[in-house]
Amino acid sequence: MAEVDARQSLLEALTEAALVASGGEVAAANSAARSLLGKDIDRQPVDRAISHPAALEALERPGTARGDGVELTGLGGSRRHWLMRIAELPDGALLIRFIDRSEARAAEQMRVDFVANASHELRTPLSTLIGYTETLRDQADEIDSGTRERFLSVVHDEARRMQRVVEDLISLSRIEAEKFTAPTDAIALEPLIEQALESERRAAEERGSCLIRDIPSGLPRISGDASQITQLLDNLLSNALRYGEPGTPVRVGARAEGAMVRLSVADEGEGIAAEHLARVTERFYRVDTGRSRSLGGTGLGLSIVKHIIERHRGRLQIDSQPGRGTTVIVLLPVAAELS
Ligand SMILES: Nc1ncnc2c1ncn2[C@@H]1O[C@H](COP(=O)(O)OP(=O)(O)O)[C@@H](O)[C@H]1O
Ligand SMILES: [Mg+2]
Repeated sequence: MAEVDARQSLLEALTEAALVASGGEVAAANSAARSLLGKDIDRQPVDRAISHPAALEALERPGTARGDGVELTGLGGSRRHWLMRIAELPDGALLIRFIDRSEARAAEQMRVDFVANASHELRTPLSTLIGYTETLRDQADEIDSGTRERFLSVVHDEARRMQRVVEDLISLSRIEAEKFTAPTDAIALEPLIEQALESERRAAEERGSCLIRDIPSGLPRISGDASQITQLLDNLLSNALRYGEPGTPVRVGARAEGAMVRLSVADEGEGIAAEHLARVTERFYRVDTGRSRSLGGTGLGLSIVKHIIERHRGRLQIDSQPGRGTTVIVLLPVAAELS
């Protein structure tokens, strides 16, 4: 009995789901294994307790799962991913462990998708460039000067688009590379907001939108990286102007809220439907790709914003009502300053 208790304690001490199989039956299991495989697995035949084809195959030939283990996809949920490892105990029983690989798998999938998306984003304008420059070269004699001008401006616009994508990709990878070192400079937010508003003023005028600022004096300084905060403000303001209804105002507010400064950028535009809201910070995710592209977007702006906020140990919240408008709220930590 003491031996059984010791075995149970050992199993519970493991962080992963684990069970001991003896004579083809589950002889013991920890609570993680019960929540993965079912609470009644004790004394069940192993091939019923672990009903997964790859697992059953491995159990018939336990040698295969001893070294690197066997990958199990879909056990306990379609998006779950496990590594099953089998070790033989001195008494001939088998210790079967399930190591959760779901997160690593999801991260790997994101990397793969990212490379595919980035390549696609660059390939499209590149094909246009090649097509137009070939025509300009091969049919130089037949093309009148007006057409040539038009072709050249297409070439220029597409090259600029590629440049924006590449610049955003470089930004993103720089910010990610620094994510474990939070910025420590104490910076004043107000001049950065003024500067960002100034650089969007032309775009706002063209759309007949006024930029309204609501910032009390004496706003505490934040702990931040000035150039990244500028980038964050530029991205949020350009989105508000881009997706806001022409002629309606864009409001920028900031105020202290406990140990944070709460920054908000609000527009009165088309808004973002609930099903898209959770995904707009993903790289290259857009609600309407054609529209974003035609407005000069790269699909990376909010992803950059999200990474900047993570590096600043801040918080991001996007409130949106389709047809009414969007408010992006950013919380940034107040700088720890000696007063
Ligand atoms: N203020 C906003 N109002 C409505 N939709 C928005 C707003 N900001 C972002 N979006 C949506 O989120 C998508 C992703 O934004 P972002 O990452 O900045 O990429 P981009 O603006 O380059 O398309 C946009 O394509 C747009 O569909
Ligand atoms: Mg954007």
